[in-house]
Parts: sequence; C-alpha cells; structure tokens
Amino acid sequence: MVPVEIPNGIFYNGDCISGAKEHIPPNTIDLIITDPPYGINGDMLHQHYNRKEQFVVEGYVEVPESEYGEFSYKWIQEAERILRPGGSIFIVSGYTNLYHILYALRQTKLKEINHIIWKYNFGVYTSRKFVSSHYHILYYEKPGGERTFNLESRYGTDEKLPDGSSLNYQDREDVWIINREYKPGQIKNKNELPLALLIKMLQYGSNEGDLVCDLFLGGFSTAKTAIGLNRKAIGFEISNQMFETRIKEIKEIIPGNLLHTLRSPIIKEKENQGKAWTNDEIELLKNRFSQLITNNTTKKEAIKILEEELGRGRWSIEKALNKLDLDIKLKRGRLKGYQLKNDINREVTLSHFL
Ligand SMILES: C[S@@+](CC[C@H](N)C(=O)[O-])C[C@H]1O[C@@H](n2cnc3c(N)ncnc32)[C@H](O)[C@@H]1O
Repeated sequence: MVPVEIPNGIFYNGDCISGAKEHIPPNTIDLIITDPPYGINGDMLHQHYNRKEQFVVEGYVEVPESEYGEFSYKWIQEAERILRPGGSIFIVSGYTNLYHILYALRQTKLKEINHIIWKYNFGVYTSRKFVSSHYHILYYEKPGGERTFNLESRYGTDEKLPDGSSLNYQDREDVWIINREYKPGQIKNKNELPLALLIKMLQYGSNEGDLVCDLFLGGFSTAKTAIGLNRKAIGFEISNQMFETRIKEIKEIIPGNLLHTLRSPIIKEKENQGKAWTNDEIELLKNRFSQLITNNTTKKEAIKILEEELGRGRWSIEKALNKLDLDIKLKRGRLKGYQLKNDINREVTLSHFL
C-alpha cells in the first residue's frame, strides 16, 4: 500500500485492517473518529429525503451483513492496538448492526465513556412507521493514560443562557442535535458526516498537533476537519474511485483553516486555577465545607460558594473533596453530615493531593 503524504496527513488506498497492521505502530494514535460501512444488504443510503444521486460519488464499498460481526471484531482489535493509552475513539453507527460493534468492543479492554445519540434531519423517508433520524456514537477510551477531554473548549462552565441554564452542560449532554449538511450541486460521499459533528468530537477529544485516525475515510471529512483544526490525520479508504476523487481535495486544505470559525468560549479565570493546593487551603476547604453542610447547604451550593472563596474551579474542588475521603450521607438531596472515613481528626496533608 503506497501512502499519499501531505504536510499534515498520510493516507492509504486500501483495507484498513491489513493497512493498519502494516503501517501504524501500536500506541501511537491520540484519537480515532470513524464511521464504518453499515453492513446493510441492499443500499438504503440513496433513500435520504430530497437527494440528487448525480452528485453522490460512486465506489462506496459495503460489507455483507453475514460478515459484519467478524469484520467489526477485526478492525476494532486494530483500533485498540493503535490507540495510545488514554487515547479515545468515537464510532458512528446505525442501529441495524450496532450489536456487532458493541460485541466487538466488549472483547477489547476499551472502556465506555459515553453512548451518544446523534439526532439529524433528512431521515430515511417512511409512511407506515416512524422516521429514523438518529445514529449512535460510541465514545470509548483505551485505559492506562490520561484521556483528553477539553471541558471548556466550546463553552466556559460559567456561560449561561438567559433562563440561567448552562451552555457548557447543554453542549455536553449525550444527545447531539446536529443537522446533516445540504450541499446542493456539490459532490458528496453517500454518508458524509457534517462538519459541526466532526468539529465537536475533535474539540473535546484532541488538541492541536494530535494525531487523528479515520479507518474508513469515505469522503475524507474527518481528515479534512482534523487538518483544518491543526491536527495531523492518517487514514484508509478501500475504494479506489472514492480515494482518487477525495485525495485531490484534501491536498488543497490549508492546515488550521477552520480555526478562525471556532467560537471563543468565555472562560472566567479563577485566581488559583492551575496552582498547587497548599495545606492551609486544604484545611480551609475541609472546615468550610463542613460548616456549609452543617448549615444545611446542598453539596452543589457548597461547591459553588467554595469556588468563589477559594478562587478555584468546580472540578478542582470536587476532586479535592473526593481526595479528602469524606463519608457523605445524602438525605433527600441534602447532605446530612459528613466525617472523615477513618479518623475525623486525621491530619490532611498535601500528599493527598499529589
Ligand atoms: C460510512 S463511509 C465513511 C463516511 C465518511 N465518514 C464521510 O464522512 O465521508 C464508510 C467508508 O468505508 C469504506 N470501506 C469499506 N470497507 C473498508 C475497509 N475494509 N477499509 C477501508 N475502508 C473501507 C467504504 O468504501 C466507505 O467509503
């Protein structure tokens, strides 16, 4: 398999299972975003509402339904091998053969992070049943390292809508409503993923300079978006026709060309954010938390107050509280009281936070 190399990418026209074995060393990929063929006998993909077939690139290679289980097992074994410890994978799947993918994942050490539902428009048209308009996105990680999850890459944790709800929370709910792109008169792959969906996975799951792999490139949309966000891309596409059409386009992509389109999250810098905890601060946290809880403040409210008082973020405070090993008793959403698990007077030292 001869690669086509561009400044931030390397692509192979061939089967991803043998190709990854031959060309990708173990533990090297930061993030995989991939959308395998669906294994649907009889091509239903053309039935999308209002689609003009002359603009759809031919050459999509399907996998027979009868082979789908073994096929899924083989490529998912490769995905596990090439991910670095802490690396993660987003797999986009329809529901017909989802069970094969879930079964294959269960035969690895990959760990589930989320099972996301992607709700889209332009579902397959039906008149005697409900219209299917969702895909599954399986978000897994390879244990053994630090997973990239950029909490505030899109919305700061303090950003609110006028009704007081958190934009960051909403963006991180596991149902994503993202429309497919309507590209009248432009060439497209049979099942091209929308840019907004890819950007979201890339922003949360990777950093600039990271190596992103797509085992099933199709229209190269993952690779194009990754390079557009200044990541490096690697991938495979078995169809010669698809590869030849799309490789020309990817050569034109200027690294980082999408960065200016990203929204800048409003991140309120906390005074002590990123700084190591001191013993005095830990003591203060312990005493103040205890005091608030004793006064019937909920844990959530107490953390909010401590965020302001300690100049630290919510996650940092939650993590610190967890490390204090508090035995928290909840009663109807309120904390009834707490004590240190083993010894209430135990001295809490900095070593608990290292
Ligand atoms: C669902 S499409 C990917 C769509 C892509 N995410 C996009 O946005 O355009 C799956 C692609 O995998 C390709 N494919 C099928 N079997 C393959 C294999 N063994 N190795 C690599 N690519 C394969 C198909 O030809 C098809 O283009």
